[in-house]
Amino acid sequence: MRIIDKAFPELTVHELYAILRLRMDVFVVEQACAYPELDGRDAEPETRHLWVPADGDGLPGIATYLRVLNDGDGVRIGRVVTSPGHRGRGLSGALLRHAIDANAHARIDIDAQSHLARWYGGFGFQVNGEEFLEDGIPHLPMHLDPRSG
Ligand SMILES: CC(C)(COP(=O)(O)OP(=O)(O)OC[C@H]1O[C@@H](n2cnc3c(N)ncnc32)[C@H](O)[C@@H]1OP(=O)(O)O)[C@@H](O)C(=O)NCCC(=O)NCCS
Repeated sequence: MRIIDKAFPELTVHELYAILRLRMDVFVVEQACAYPELDGRDAEPETRHLWVPADGDGLPGIATYLRVLNDGDGVRIGRVVTSPGHRGRGLSGALLRHAIDANAHARIDIDAQSHLARWYGGFGFQVNGEEFLEDGIPHLPMHLDPRSG
C-alpha cells in the first residue's frame, strides 16, 4: 500500500482538487451536512495531508485520506475519510495506524463521530470528554496519550 504524506505547499493542484473533492463529497454531500469544510487549517505550515492513491484514469484519485494538524500540545487527526468504492478493505485503518506510528511521541486528539468510537478504541484511543453535537452530528472527544499509557 503506497502512502503519500505531504505538506500543503507540496500538493499539486490536481492532488488538492482530489482531496477537497472527496472531503466535500463525503462530509458535506453524503453526510448531508452544510458546514465549513474548508476551515483554514489545511495550509498551516505543520499540517500533513496523508492519503492512499486510487488507480484512476491518469488524474490523481484518493482511496483514503486523513490530515494531521499540529495543536501545540500534540497533534489532531481529522477528516478521516475513504471514498465509497474503497470502503471495508481496511484502508482507513491502515492509514490511521501509519499516522499514529508517525506521531508515537505525541498526544493525539481526535473528534470521533460517535458511532466510530469503538473502532478508534481499537487503536488505543480513549474517550476523554462528553459527547457533543458538531453541525448536528454526535461526536466524542478521544485521545491517545503515550504519557498516560
Ligand atoms: C469511517 C471510514 C473512514 C472507514 O473507512 P474504511 O476504509 O472502510 O475503514 P476500514 O476498512 O479500515 O475499517 C472500517 C471500520 O469502520 C467501521 N465502520 C464504518 N462505518 C461504520 C458505521 N457507520 N458504524 C459503525 N462502524 C462503522 C467498520 O465496521 C470497520 O470496523 P472493523 O475494522 O472493526 O470491522 C469510512 O466509512 C468513511 O469515509 N465514512 C464517512 C466519513 C466518516 O464518517 N469519517 C469519520 C469521521 S470521524
